[in-house]
Amino acid sequence: MTATSPIVAPSILSADFSKLQDELAIVDPARDWVHCDVMDNHFVPNLTFGPIVVGAVRKLTTATLDVHLMMERPWLMVDAFREAGADRITVHLEACRETREVLRQIRATGAKAGLAVRPATPYAAVAPYLPDLDLLLVMTVEPGFGGQAFMPETMDKVSAARDLRTKKSLSFLIEVDGGIGADTAPTARAAGADVFVAGNSVFRAADPRAALAGLRAAVAG
Ligand code: DX5
Ligand code: ZN
Repeated sequence: MTATSPIVAPSILSADFSKLQDELAIVDPARDWVHCDVMDNHFVPNLTFGPIVVGAVRKLTTATLDVHLMMERPWLMVDAFREAGADRITVHLEACRETREVLRQIRATGAKAGLAVRPATPYAAVAPYLPDLDLLLVMTVEPGFGGQAFMPETMDKVSAARDLRTKKSLSFLIEVDGGIGADTAPTARAAGADVFVAGNSVFRAADPRAALAGLRAAVAG
């Protein structure tokens, strides 16, 4: 049993930014989220965008904006991303020192608080925080780039988190991110994931709208 109906979150990292309005038109705000990948060229070896672009996305869709901060010192930018329109802000455990304080800071802005873990970070490192989270993001690739292959070995973390959630009657969502498509998403759904981030499999498909529909169908039921 999982806690919620599955949610698909197309990642704009793989979208064409020269026509973002058209790209975002495939998203159904009633059931999908929009995933925004912030990268700082320190925590990960890639550089994307900051609050200005999140603010522009905010004007283009009413969907939940799910902002994934792959950056060092994320606490310095939490307020700016919230002001830009983020509904959910997820920071990396590996980038935090006072993790509980950062989660508290996110919630104090009114946003939902998420904590992300790299593939190499063990379940035991994140388990103590699960009662304090709105969302656990289990990276299913090494963070930094779209278009990488799904790592099935990360599913142990998903199922361990799902089991703890059931045992302790917690309500955090479990999100998977990286290499998710209609082929891999059912594996993650079976392990306990609720939210499915998809970049390449949606925006680089010949028909993104059909790809998104296919992904919704792959995790339904
Ligand atoms: C990777 C990002 C992902 C990325 C996923 O570091 O966190 O959100 O957009 O891209 P795909 O779905 O192409 O693996
Ligand atoms: Zn992401």
